[in-house]
Amino acid sequence: MSDDGFAQMRQLAQLAEYIAVDYMEAVRDGQVVNDGEYQEMLEFSQLIVTNISEIQDKSADAGDLTDQAKALQEAIQNKQAIETIRQMSGSLRGTLLALMPQSSLPDHLLSKATVKGLYESQCASCHGAAGGGDGVMAEQLEPAPTDFTSKERALNRSLLGLYDAISNGIDDTAMPAFTQLTEEERWSLAFHVGGLAFQSGSEVTGEAPSVTLSQMVNHTPVQLAAEHPEMTQKGIERLRAKPELLFQETTNPLKITRDQLLLAQEAHQHQRGDYQTAQALAVSAYLDGFELVENSLDAQDKALRQTLEADMMAIRQLLKQAQSPGEVESAVSRTLARLDDADRLLSEST
Ligand code: HEC
Repeated sequence: MSDDGFAQMRQLAQLAEYIAVDYMEAVRDGQVVNDGEYQEMLEFSQLIVTNISEIQDKSADAGDLTDQAKALQEAIQNKQAIETIRQMSGSLRGTLLALMPQSSLPDHLLSKATVKGLYESQCASCHGAAGGGDGVMAEQLEPAPTDFTSKERALNRSLLGLYDAISNGIDDTAMPAFTQLTEEERWSLAFHVGGLAFQSGSEVTGEAPSVTLSQMVNHTPVQLAAEHPEMTQKGIERLRAKPELLFQETTNPLKITRDQLLLAQEAHQHQRGDYQTAQALAVSAYLDGFELVENSLDAQDKALRQTLEADMMAIRQLLKQAQSPGEVESAVSRTLARLDDADRLLSEST
């Protein structure tokens, strides 16, 4: 698939996310409460159906995307409950994201003070100093600037969705595309505005984050809560309020290796198996993680370094094609156990 095709898919994932957020303004208890918003929902869902059938023609992997898009459209026509709409939109987004290459993730965020300064100079005139959607220009604008402190909205918005809005702007509204800002500035702003609704929960402590940066970026807090029963809702909200917690974690190269191996395993299992993505992730597990500590590990325990290197090569081979059930999982879990050993050795030595 071409870059254009991927850009189109990303936009469709955006539209699906908008439907999940804005539907609550359009329909309540099976009744249309705002006809303008409801017409927009109908228009967006039709747009998704039309564009997805185009993608489907180009990509054999697109699977049941059309069915999912039509089901969402029908649910909107039937004025189904918001929970149903969110669930359908979430799984449609999930399928689309799994078909796309992972968008490049930020490796760190700008300092809080820098981001606040950027926000004040570029965003506050519309979105308000505290993000309440009440800047000096807000009154003249229709639609009004988003209120980032609205928790219900934030719970249903992914950081990727916010990043895309900042990067591309929003058609037919006052929201401009901030192409003059660097990628790092745009990501930092997305994390900043994406955390404003959750500040009150930021003091909760004690829970270790078990989501990866990529899951955090791609999924809404509502989806994350459903997919991570081991984490509390408060724990997830705290990560949105204090994203730096995720970045501290990912600076340990072996943590990156572990995360990428698990994602590779997941991609290999996914529906018909996405072997190319799985392999790319396994290569990243090595290059973006293990390789950075290879020399220090070699100095501590040469045999372990060699075994791990062989482990990871074996996993890359396995991921090339279908395997009998459990094969990939057991290779990955053996490797994860050895990575734990390496982690202990390295942290003892520092
Ligand atoms: C000229 C006014 C204006 C400025 C300046 C502006 N925005 Fe917006 N922004 C809007 C409007 C209006 C919307 C709502 C559009 C809609 O309802 O679809 C919006 C929507 C957004 C959204 C989508 C939110 C969601 O949940 O859908 C994000 C994210 C966003 N703005 C971030 C920013 C950031 C970050 C800046 C500064 C770098 C900024 N905006 C500057 C007017 C503005």
